[in-house]
Parts: sequence; C-alpha cells; structure tokens
Amino acid sequence: MARHLITSAIPYINGIKHLGNLIGSQLPADLFARYLRARGHEVLFLCATDEHGTPAELAAAKAAKPVAEYCAEMHAVQARIAEGFRLSFDHFGRSSSPQNHALTQHFAGRLADAGLIGEVSEKQVYSITDGRFLPDRYIEGTCPNCGYDKARGDQCENCTKQLDPTDLIDARSAVSGSTDLEVRETKHLYLRQSELKDELDAWIDSKTEWPILTTSIAKKWLHDGDGLRDRGITRDLDWGIPVQRGTQPWPGMEGKVFYVWFDAPIEYIACASEWAAANGLTDAEWQRWWRTDKGAEDVRYTQFMGKDNVPFHTLSFPATLIGSGENWKMVDHLKSFNYLNYDGGQFSTSQGRGVFMDQALELLPADYWRWWLLSHAPESSDSEFTWEIFQSSVNKDLADVLGNFVSRITKFCRSKFGEEVPQGGAYGEIETNLIDDLSERVDRYARHMEKMEVRKSAQELRAIWACGNEYLQTVAPWTTFKTNPERAAMQTRLGLNLAHLYAVLSEPYLPDTTDRVLASLNVEKTSWPEDIAEFLQRLSSGHSFQTPEVLFAKITDEQREDWQRKFSGTRNP
Ligand code: 2FM
Ligand code: ZN
Repeated sequence: MARHLITSAIPYINGIKHLGNLIGSQLPADLFARYLRARGHEVLFLCATDEHGTPAELAAAKAAKPVAEYCAEMHAVQARIAEGFRLSFDHFGRSSSPQNHALTQHFAGRLADAGLIGEVSEKQVYSITDGRFLPDRYIEGTCPNCGYDKARGDQCENCTKQLDPTDLIDARSAVSGSTDLEVRETKHLYLRQSELKDELDAWIDSKTEWPILTTSIAKKWLHDGDGLRDRGITRDLDWGIPVQRGTQPWPGMEGKVFYVWFDAPIEYIACASEWAAANGLTDAEWQRWWRTDKGAEDVRYTQFMGKDNVPFHTLSFPATLIGSGENWKMVDHLKSFNYLNYDGGQFSTSQGRGVFMDQALELLPADYWRWWLLSHAPESSDSEFTWEIFQSSVNKDLADVLGNFVSRITKFCRSKFGEEVPQGGAYGEIETNLIDDLSERVDRYARHMEKMEVRKSAQELRAIWACGNEYLQTVAPWTTFKTNPERAAMQTRLGLNLAHLYAVLSEPYLPDTTDRVLASLNVEKTSWPEDIAEFLQRLSSGHSFQTPEVLFAKITDEQREDWQRKFSGTRNP
C-alpha cells in the first residue's frame, strides 16, 4: 500500500466549465484516484476553485454582485456539478481561503528572505473613471498596424501583432469604455526564477518518467528565449491576496495583491490544510502529505492538467517551492492533456461554445459522459467531440456491450432458474480458457491504469466486457438448457460472476453503474480482483439477485439531431 497525493488543475471561478475543461484535468484525475483507492492505496485527491484575478472581478461585475459573494456562489455551483459527475475529491477547496492567504504570504516572505524577489517600477495604464489600473488586455483601441478597432492592449486579434497598450490609437477601458486613461508609475514584485534555472533543469532531468508532452514543454520554456524570464507576481487589483511579507506588511506594496498564477498552485497545499480543518484533523495530518520533513517522503504526487498549464507547474510553481528553502513535496508525475475540440471548432467559455457541464448532466447521467470523455481523452493529440461519435460510442460500448451483457445474463437466469445463482457443475475448458484470457486482460488493464494511459485502459476494459458477450454467444446457455440444464446452470453462474467482475473493474469509469449492478447482485463493494479464477466463484449457488433495469438507454437519431441543433450556437457565458 502506498500513499498517493493527486491534484487536478483548479478551474477558474468565472462560470461553469465545459466538457473540454472536464476531460483536461478533473475527470482523468478522478479516474486515477478511484483506481488507486480500489487497489487499496491511501489517496488524498484535491481540487479547488481558482478565484482571483481580473476575470473573476469582471464576471462578478457583470453579475452585479460583490466579488466575494459571486465567488462563494460559483464555488457552490461548481461543487454541486462536480458531485453530479461523481468527482471524488477528498476536498474541493477555494484559492480565496484563509489558509491560502497565509501560505501565499508565507512563500512570498521566504522567497524575499532568500533574495529571490526583486522590485521593479513599471508604467501602467490607469483608468480614472474606473479608479483602477487596467491589465493590458482590458484596454481596447485601434490597431496601429491594421486599423482594426477592437484591438486589445496585448495583441491585435485581427493581424496578431503583439502590442503595448500605449501603441493603441484612441485607447479606452474595456471595463467601462472610458477614454479617461493615463500612464502611471507603479511598483511590482518579481520572482527571480532565472536564478533557479540550473536547479530546475536538474530537477526536470530527474523526471525520466514524465510523458514527452510534459518534458518537451518544460524544456522549451526553460531554454527558449524568455521562458524563465523573471515574472511579476503582484497586481494592482482589489480582489486577491494582499501582498505581505509573511505576516508583516510589505512597504510600498500597500493596496496590491499577488498575481493569480502565484497563489493558484499554492492552493494545492492550502487545500490540504482546508481538508484537515474541515475534517477536524491536526496540521500534522495535512503536513504528512506535503512536507518531506514531516512524513511526505514516501508520498507519490501526481498532478493533472491541460497542456497550457504545464509551464506554470514545471517551472514557476517548482521555483516557488525550491526557492522557499523548505521541504515541500514536489510533483513526481505530471499528466498533461491536449485539447478536446467541439464539432469542428474549439470549446470556448468566453464565447459560450460547446456543451457545458451543467447542460451535459441535464441530458444524460454522468456515466455516459465519463465513458465517452475518458475513452476519447485527448492524450497523444487533440481530439474532437461530435454528436455522431458520442452517439455511436454510447450505443456500441455501453448499451450493446456492457449493458446488453448484464441484461442478457440476468434475464436469462431469471427465466430459467429464477433470481438466484444456479449451481451446475465445475467450470470446464472453455471457462478455464476464458478465465486465463481475462486474467491477462485485467493485468493489462491495471498496467495501463498505473501508467495513467486513459484511452488504452478504456479499450482494454471494453474488450473485457466484450469477452462476456462472446462467451454467451459461444456457449449459448439458452440452447444448452434444452439438452443439459446442469451445464447451462454452470454457464449462467459464470455469467453472473462476470457481471460482478465487470461492476468492480468498471468503477473508476462508471461509478454509478457499478453501484447499480452491485446493488442488483446484492453484493457489497469488494476489493480489487487479484485472482480472477477465485473472484469468478464468489457468487455461489443460492445467492439471490434482482434483474436490473436497463443500464444504458441508446441515444436515438432524433435525440442526436435535437441536441446537435440545440448546441450549435452559443450560450450566454
Ligand atoms: O487554466 C486554468 O483553468 C487555471 N485556473 C489552472 C490553475 S492550476 C493551478 F495552478 F492551480
Ligand atoms: Zn491589427
């Protein structure tokens, strides 16, 4: 038994996430957490909402709510939806928590003590009407290069030219539209992460098991041009974690907050502390997951995230941890994902394009989505959601293979032997061969799961389900029954035991379906089937069950067309 710390990238608070976000981190992290728990490991699985930054402020303003209130509400909404998808976080925290305030200020203090924080004076656009500094992308105006009149202060979206806000002609605030802007001097803290380049390089080199996608992004950022440029870690905003040096004020930094990307990953740690507080545990209990001098030396830490998040997790956050000079647990394995596209384009939160998590649950139960998303996870390249592929994979994999198998065997048993496992003789040669085959397949499934090969393990699981249908097809208990009811009884007994096996193996992908099948079979959740031959004897003669209702309804062409139409536009984000 090992100890596994698992974190999923923490979703931004502004709005409900789409299916592309879900498959990019939370869902595969949940798959891994469930699998490891099923194998008997001790798991701490954490996620939270990422609540600071300008997008949160603007979303709150749009909703006409104070930002703290907006965040509290959206956190509850995201928590409820996460539960709907059966994301089994041990804690779903908030980056605005008091724990994260204290830890973020603590890290900044340690980094400053180590000489790793610099102060830089900058010129930034201040909106007099809005009473605030404006981040570059919240300044709009006419592009000096192409004349496009909605160019942003960081880049013109029309001609892609990189801009400075002061390049814009007729610049205005994107918050209020006001043109009453001026350039003011402001002081910011910089994390001198370039000082840590060699240490980071050596650390990344030591991560020989990282997938190529992860290592190549990390190395590119480390060595190419300005990848490891010193970064500003403070902002002139109201909402965020006030800049302090530990518990002390930071002269000259009054009224400023830390940059959202500085405090967000620290929330991974703070979240463990929130978890402990929420469960009446001591500080030692969360520190044994995070401090290598306090018990975390044997923890294996895995992070899940989309590829755009990799640089922050391989460079900036490690720089914070290393730079603190303290014994913080660093990530062991980092699993990153490409993008899921939607029907010929991109999922987009800002444009409301695609299927959002709340909408998905209104259409179909979580397991349908979990299965499709995980079995099509954008692992080695981007992948695409289309309603046709979704319909076909739900109907074929879930309804025709798994659902059909469970339904066939339970209904057949009920009609010939009643709702009780029949005895029959010992398993014969066909059965022994099947058991051997399944033992190999389950081993393979487990190996893929250990390596977090999400698609490959889904394929293997589907093949394991399909073995059941092939077996029934081959031995045809309904035919055997006419001449040899004893033998048909044995075949049926094996079939029911297979249904039990499938329920247990499928749990990381299909937790609700597992619960339903186990309930129908009148069995408690059991541990992982280590010995398949033994496991397939567990339901023995006389064990009663109830034939389950249809496990998966097929998606009809009308439904598919209806949803396709309904989701072809955009929703108000
Ligand atoms: O990309 C995102 O959705 C970010 N909110 C992820 C932050 S992950 C971490 F650093 F906390
Ligand atoms: Zn332009």
